[in-house]
Amino acid sequence: MGPGTLSRRLVLRVTALVAVVTVALSMFTALASFQILQQQLDSRLQNAANRPTLRSSGASANQPGDLGGAGLIRVDAFVGQDASGNFVVVHPQPTAVPDGVSDETAVALLVSEIGRVGRDPASVAVPGAGPYRVLVVQRQVGGQQIITLVGLPYSEVTRPMGNLLVMAALLTAATILAAFVLARRVVASSLRPLNRLAATANLVSNLPLERGAGQVPVRVAPGDANPVSEVGQVGLAFNHMLDNVENALAVRHQSEMKVRQFVADASHELRNPLASIRGYAELTRRGSDQLPQDAAYSLGRIESESDRMSALVEDLLLLARLDSEPTLDLQPVDVTEMILNAVSDARAADTGHVWALDLPEEPVLARADQNRLHQVVANLLGNARRHTPEGTRVEAALRRMDGFAEISVTDNGPGVPAEIQPVVFERFTRADASRARQGNGSSTGLGLAIVAAVVKAHGGQVGMDSRPGHTRFTVRIPLA
Ligand SMILES: Nc1ncnc2c1ncn2[C@@H]1O[C@H](COP(=O)(O)OP(=O)(O)OP(=O)(O)O)[C@@H](O)[C@H]1O
Ligand SMILES: [Mg+2]
Repeated sequence: MGPGTLSRRLVLRVTALVAVVTVALSMFTALASFQILQQQLDSRLQNAANRPTLRSSGASANQPGDLGGAGLIRVDAFVGQDASGNFVVVHPQPTAVPDGVSDETAVALLVSEIGRVGRDPASVAVPGAGPYRVLVVQRQVGGQQIITLVGLPYSEVTRPMGNLLVMAALLTAATILAAFVLARRVVASSLRPLNRLAATANLVSNLPLERGAGQVPVRVAPGDANPVSEVGQVGLAFNHMLDNVENALAVRHQSEMKVRQFVADASHELRNPLASIRGYAELTRRGSDQLPQDAAYSLGRIESESDRMSALVEDLLLLARLDSEPTLDLQPVDVTEMILNAVSDARAADTGHVWALDLPEEPVLARADQNRLHQVVANLLGNARRHTPEGTRVEAALRRMDGFAEISVTDNGPGVPAEIQPVVFERFTRADASRARQGNGSSTGLGLAIVAAVVKAHGGQVGMDSRPGHTRFTVRIPLA
């Protein structure tokens, strides 16, 4: 029921609707009741006024009960004419006067209200008795005009009206509250499937779909995918979408597998002819000393290029194998010793760089494939050698870190060019293909891709941090 949620809006709207209807109904009922009560009071006034006057009927006493009920005011009077011909009240007799109202007040009321003669009852304030409903009638009795004022307390309308309004207000409040509580429950239970749907969607969004054969093992429960309800339709559509995604991923995975298999097969098949080319070139060059100089040069080139191609084919084959079924020979490997050897090899191969080591005293054992891990370190050291100028300092370091053996190769060379940094671990990424080729003719851009693939197959992590003057490649392999 958070702000802005559908359930909150639904509950508020339903409650508001019920509130408007209830208030309108209460007001209509109150108005109708008011009119009925007032009509009743007016007809009682009429009855009271129609009773014969005391004088003409000969009744003796002041009997308000008989005449119209408690609180009745009745004043009878004759109507005469004064000298100038205006009607005047003559001998007014207050025949019914309730407690608290004096005869004079009653007579004064008749005098002041005489203008209402023959009109509908009206509400007036009687001093000392509050609001009254009064009726003034005139009739002829025995040749004489008699005027009669009757009044009944208006509280006979207002008191029941007050009670009724209080009741209506309480009832309205109770109805609105009940509507709110009920709407909340109904909305919550109706939207529960939607919440479950959202949970399923969240689950799917957290699936590692980029890996594996593309299975999506999550579906909306059949109960929430019933097309009878709107939410069920969404659930059903969601399941269809997941089926579709799963199919698409499976198809893509299959074609990916085919491509990998093709690359693996092609690399494998290229190995033998390449070895033959190299072998024959070497044989020809060695066998005959009388070869012209340019032919001997060409044969030398054929040898070195077929070497390069063999290395490339080996790399491709290795990557293809790591992609499909990484078959690693995992054993406890002394990483300290391995780095020591790799750096000695590098030092022997290249004296132009400054090689440094930062190794812990005690051996660090990682669960790894010795040859593959050696290849990782050799690739990193080879990069630091080949992509930095002479005199660059290269340091290989090792430490334990959160259950991993962390190997790092740091150099103070010019750094990895910024434009290739985001894709440096991807296949065939090279700073400048043409320059690299001219440089030493053996840069393919597969070295770091192999590093990443081998480390991933070990369940480890790779990282790079490079800026001019400081480049560090980090590899983490789980400890044995
Ligand atoms: N230590 C480094 N300093 C500067 N640039 C580097 C460094 N290591 C890698 N690079 C850059 O990253 C690119 C990719 O390296 P990667 O090892 O994948 O390929 P490569 O060395 O070019 O070829 P190979 O497949 O023979 O290793 C290199 O071409 C180079 O531009
Ligand atoms: Mg390399």
